Amino acid sequence: MTQDELKQAVAREAIKHVVEDAVIGVGTGSTASLFIDELARMKNRIAGAVASSEGSAERLKGRGIRVLDLNSVNELPVYIDGADEITEHLAMIKGGGGALTREKIVAAVAKKFVCIADESKLVPVLGKFPLPVEVIAMARAYVARQMVRLGGQPKLRQGITTDNGNIILDVWGLSILNPVELETALNNIAGVVTNGLFARRRADVLLLGTKTGVRTIARK
Ligand code: 5RP
Repeated sequence: MTQDELKQAVAREAIKHVVEDAVIGVGTGSTASLFIDELARMKNRIAGAVASSEGSAERLKGRGIRVLDLNSVNELPVYIDGADEITEHLAMIKGGGGALTREKIVAAVAKKFVCIADESKLVPVLGKFPLPVEVIAMARAYVARQMVRLGGQPKLRQGITTDNGNIILDVWGLSILNPVELETALNNIAGVVTNGLFARRRADVLLLGTKTGVRTIARK
C-alpha cells in the first residue's frame, strides 16, 4: 500500500468518530483533506464544521459542507486532524502545513482529538521533524536566538505567511525528551504565538494507517 492509500484508509476510518447532528472540528493537511472528502458523503447528517485553516474552510465549502466560526459554536465533540510526528503517548508535532495556531485552538475546544496518520508518522521520540514555531515578524531574530540557546537550529520558512499574518521558524535538532516542558517553555518566549508541540493537549485517539490495516491507539 502506498502512503496515500494509508492516509485514505485512516480518513475513511475517522468517519466512525463523527458525531451526527453536531459541528465537527476539521484539521489541515493532505490527510485532513482526504477526511473532508469522506465527510462530504455524510454532509446532510452533520450540523457543519469548524476549520483549522482558510485552506480547509475552502475545501469544506467546495464540498458543500457548512463552515461555522468557532466563536459561534458552544460545543465541539470531536476534532479530526493529521500530524507530522506522533508518539505512542499521543504527543505530537504539528504545523508542517503552517496551521498550528488555529489547530491548537480548535483542539483546545474539542472534547475528543482524533489524529489520523500513516505509519511513517509514529516515532519513539519527537524531534526529527523540525518543530514549527509561529512568530510575530518583529520578534524573528530574538526568537531565533532563543531557539539556538535551547540547542535548536531555526530556519525561516520561506514564502509563507500564516492565516494569522505571522511567520514560521522551523527548528531543527531539538532534543524533545520532555515535550510538555518544552511546549510550555517555548510558549513563554516573547514573540512566540504558538509552537507545534501538542503535548499538553495530546490526541485522545490515534488512527494509524499500517500495511496490515488501521491500528487504533487510545489515550491511557
Ligand atoms: C498542518 C498539520 C498537518 O496535520 C500535518 O502537517 C500533517 O500533514 P499531512 O496529513 O499532509 O501529512 O499540522 O499544519
